Amino acid sequence: MLNLVLFGPPGAGKGTQAELLIERFGLLHLSTGDLLRSEIAAGTELGVQAKKFMDKGELVSDDIVIEMIKSKLDANQDAKGIIFDGFPRTVAQAEAFDVVLVDYNAEVKGMLSLEVEKDELVKRLLNRGKDSGRADDQEQSIIENRIKIYNEKTSPLKKYYNNQSKLHKVEGMGSVEEIAARLVAVVEKL
Ligand code: AP5
Repeated sequence: MLNLVLFGPPGAGKGTQAELLIERFGLLHLSTGDLLRSEIAAGTELGVQAKKFMDKGELVSDDIVIEMIKSKLDANQDAKGIIFDGFPRTVAQAEAFDVVLVDYNAEVKGMLSLEVEKDELVKRLLNRGKDSGRADDQEQSIIENRIKIYNEKTSPLKKYYNNQSKLHKVEGMGSVEEIAARLVAVVEKL
């Protein structure tokens, strides 16, 4: 399986680029943010609990997210590969993920890390917030909190994957098409 971790801070373009990559390489797209927002929309207990954290820009608990990933892996064992978007997001999640993947005789092939300047992230998210309906895009203070949490809890994962020789940094500034071309060039070599 060609399992890729599409990585980067909030607003880096993970969701946008994942859509292009799944088409190009015939992969599945698995976004933990999208899965959690579906739970919220369906009004499940998990969704009610997750919303409290997401609306403030805080992370949902590792246990909840890992269970969601396991059930998606179970349901998609025949997939050619999966793009993981927004997961893993803590070192604990990455460690648990490596263990879980062994059960599926699979591994993370590479981490594609989109590198984008902070001002650009804030601009993109405030812009999307005008009509996305996402509570966490509405206020600059919440966006700043998401970026702060990314820097504290999530960015250490670059070191984690670099230690496994799987980190690929990709310039995430520029047009969607330019960035897609950079990502495709990396994936083609994996
Ligand atoms: P999640 O849904 O993962 O959101 P995020 O990481 O904050 O990322 P975004 O979706 O906001 O940005 P993106 O990088 O996908 O960029 P996008 O392509 O959308 O997580 C939301 C919340 O869920 C978290 O805060 C947490 O609470 C919880 N959660 C999720 N996963 C979790 C986990 N594993 N553990 C714990 N909690 C978890 O683009 C953003 C905007 O920019 C769009 O409007 C787009 O059109 C625009 N854009 C994209 N590319 C460009 C470009 N090149 N130029 C100009 N604009 C662009």
